[in-house]
Amino acid sequence: MARTLLSLPIVLFRGADGAPVALDDMCPHRFAPLSRGQVRDGIVQCGYHGLRFDANGDCLGNESAFSSFPVGTCVPSHPVIERHRAIWIWLGDAALADPAFIPNLSRMPQPGGHENIGNYLHVQGNWLLETDNIMDLTHVHYLHDGSLGNASMRSGEMTVHEADGVVRAELWMPGTICPFGPLEGQLCDQWNNVEWHAPSAMILDFGAVPPGAPAVQDEGGYAFHIFTPETESTTHYFFGSSGSYAAEDADRPRMIGTLQNRIFLEEDNPMIEAIQERMAGRDFWEMRPAILSSDAAAVRVRRKIAKLCREEIKAAS
Ligand code: FES
Ligand SMILES: [Fe+2]
Repeated sequence: MARTLLSLPIVLFRGADGAPVALDDMCPHRFAPLSRGQVRDGIVQCGYHGLRFDANGDCLGNESAFSSFPVGTCVPSHPVIERHRAIWIWLGDAALADPAFIPNLSRMPQPGGHENIGNYLHVQGNWLLETDNIMDLTHVHYLHDGSLGNASMRSGEMTVHEADGVVRAELWMPGTICPFGPLEGQLCDQWNNVEWHAPSAMILDFGAVPPGAPAVQDEGGYAFHIFTPETESTTHYFFGSSGSYAAEDADRPRMIGTLQNRIFLEEDNPMIEAIQERMAGRDFWEMRPAILSSDAAAVRVRRKIAKLCREEIKAAS
């Protein structure tokens, strides 16, 4: 699979042991994308003149009579690991890679039942605009008016907490009209909470109960959003939800996935892409945005990301 990450073309494949491998997607011979080649027994073979590379990116030559190659011929490889049913890559200094940085997505459904994960959209917008979008869920009451939200939900209160590097915004909306689901159209107490895990994984928990009833979270009601920068101005958007369902409930994860896909595609992403266009490559802070109280979590996350970047640069220098 070819995928550009942080403006770097990467080829992803599985090594002989089944573990994921990430190499620069460019053959050192004539610079062909290795993703145009083939993988056999965990070895990637360039599609142009057949040079083969192992999981470390070391060149194994080709199968022809003209196979000799300079000592040390290789393709840069990047630390990569599979966890929580996702592939995590570290494109910084390899010596600083630490699997402990991987966000805790243990609520990701286990393989087996019917589930809603693995959804993907490509966005023509910077990944931080998408992060802002999820960290300020008051947009739901305007941008998603009539689908995920409505005007009644504009009342309520937001609180922001931080613990162990995780930022959590809680939006509590008592006595508001439920916009969708089994209680649609009814007066409810509703919540829409989100947790940010560095650098860009967000877990939402949301729900609605009759007024005054205990606000118990449905274990199948967590939504995941992961934004991976493709370039400065484009983003890979991965999303899904928790819960693994038996055959008789197979419709539920499918329905949630279809709804998420439609809403992100038709409502969120066009707004993010329009903002990207208006900003025209300018720096967010240099544009002096008017900050609202509902921006508390999004701003905190932006600052934490900036701090992580500074710390990483310092550690690598
Ligand atoms: S470009 Fe890859 S083998 Fe020639
Ligand atoms: Fe949204």
